[in-house]
Amino acid sequence: MDISGNLSGIRTSQIRELQKLCDLKTERHKLINSDLAEGMARITQIWNREIAIFISRSGWVFAVSVGKHASVHLPVIGERKGGKLRCIHTHPKGNSDLSALDLSALSDLGLESMTSLAVREGKVHGIQLAYLQEGKPETLDLNPEMLEDFNYSQFAQKVRSAGSQKTALIHNNQERAFLIGLSEDNEDDAEQNFLDELKELSLTAGVKVVGQLLQSRRFSQSSSYLGKGKLEEVCRLIQEQEATVLICDDELSPRQMRTLEQASGVKVLDRTSLILDIFSLRARSREGKLQVELAQLKHLLPSLTGQGSILSRLGGGVGTRGPGESKLELDRRRVRNRITQLEKELVAVQQERTVQRQKRLKSGIPLISLVGYTNAGKTTFMQKALEQTGQYSGIPVGENQLFATLDPIIRRIRLTTGRNILLSDTVGFIKKLPPKLLKAFLATLEEVQQADVLVHLLDASHPQAIIQAQTVQNVLRELGCENKPTITVLNKIDKVTNDFEVSRLAQQVDNPQAISLLKGDSLTLIWERIIQLLPADIYNCNK
Ligand code: GTP
Repeated sequence: MDISGNLSGIRTSQIRELQKLCDLKTERHKLINSDLAEGMARITQIWNREIAIFISRSGWVFAVSVGKHASVHLPVIGERKGGKLRCIHTHPKGNSDLSALDLSALSDLGLESMTSLAVREGKVHGIQLAYLQEGKPETLDLNPEMLEDFNYSQFAQKVRSAGSQKTALIHNNQERAFLIGLSEDNEDDAEQNFLDELKELSLTAGVKVVGQLLQSRRFSQSSSYLGKGKLEEVCRLIQEQEATVLICDDELSPRQMRTLEQASGVKVLDRTSLILDIFSLRARSREGKLQVELAQLKHLLPSLTGQGSILSRLGGGVGTRGPGESKLELDRRRVRNRITQLEKELVAVQQERTVQRQKRLKSGIPLISLVGYTNAGKTTFMQKALEQTGQYSGIPVGENQLFATLDPIIRRIRLTTGRNILLSDTVGFIKKLPPKLLKAFLATLEEVQQADVLVHLLDASHPQAIIQAQTVQNVLRELGCENKPTITVLNKIDKVTNDFEVSRLAQQVDNPQAISLLKGDSLTLIWERIIQLLPADIYNCNK
């Protein structure tokens, strides 16, 4: 490695020491190898001169230059190369602030980033990193203790995508996701179908899926989720496909999250974060928004590695969503404070809701709650119910997307018999719903707990309809609603290709009723059955 610049008066043995240091490779996800940074600080102190190195994306030192005590002459680098290099240089005066000259070098040389290492008593005392955002330099101060945890490649990737897009990432399929999951050995799904739901969730979150890989759960590892060989394969595929985010079908422990992030060099999301990400897009009401932010912060809290540190990943969701970078840079204590504040606000909002609920209960009008796996047709049922009873629904047409409904909706419906009912639609259920997520939305699901009759919407045409029905039954059990009178609407019958499967399904659920809401089948039979199932006291008082 050639060293250029001001080497006058420096012994050859010391120059060799610097050359040897510069042979150290920086791990792909890191900003700089810690030994290299420490060595640069030590030599800077001895020489009282700035040392600048250029590191390529592969982690090797590309060029080294030594300057005076307050400046360093940077070698000329072609723009094509510059965009893939980061410059890291020392400040012997102990101040990490990048100078105007440093910042102009960032754009003049077309560098990926420019970093200063402030040196005091031979040690790195402070770090400032600059990057270009829409052509303007932005800086980020890093605590030297964070250096180990700071995921530079992910940061640089994010800066690059922000630069190329210039607009928000939401809804524009800019993030490229690679999906991973573990299959059970007794799973009868075809391999390629196994991750279908995760794929749909990713698409709903506005992400483009560029690849996927499945491993048998038996070969997984608790520290890294995937086994060693599969992890290497995933890392290779991520690079080949230029994926920007790795999405995992299960909930990950903070340790698994860190291992996957460090190995892959891209942002890692687990299933829970992805669902929360979609929720954050969907939440409209104040209560919904508070619940989503609370659930996101609670989910992220264990990943914060100690007071004063920042999250190793930037952003808890897809693109720039999630609680936001500035919020994620809060330390644990501040996150906890925010959680307490959100919980207080939620209690206030929920008290209002309790008052409304009590008024409803007093009215004696029966409450019918729609439940079902996400995308089964609950909102479509609500629309048809209003339309067929001559009422304007005002509810947006059902989207073929998961979790189109997040905030609960309640409508009063006057049936043709003259009877009034209240019909409520709530968040859809999904398999592998973590209990803490269910708990977060419990208040929203209180309508289900208060209901006199449940209408369970099931997509009868779905290849996993039975599993979806079981998932809904499990969630209802957790809500203590397993014994509520239930009608199961076997919806989307127009799409069914296997009648035998539907009869099998009908045998496993309560009060089945096949229907196609899309074709506009009448709901009269369903109303009749609901009325039969209403508890006698409600039936009589509200006739
Ligand atoms: P979430 O909000 O995710 O819980 O979904 P949901 O249960 O409210 O489902 P929604 O009513 O939004 O319907 C999902 C998709 O299924 C929409 O594209 C509907 O048009 C479609 N859909 C609803 N009923 C039928 C049906 O009978 N047949 C067919 N083919 N499609 C249907």
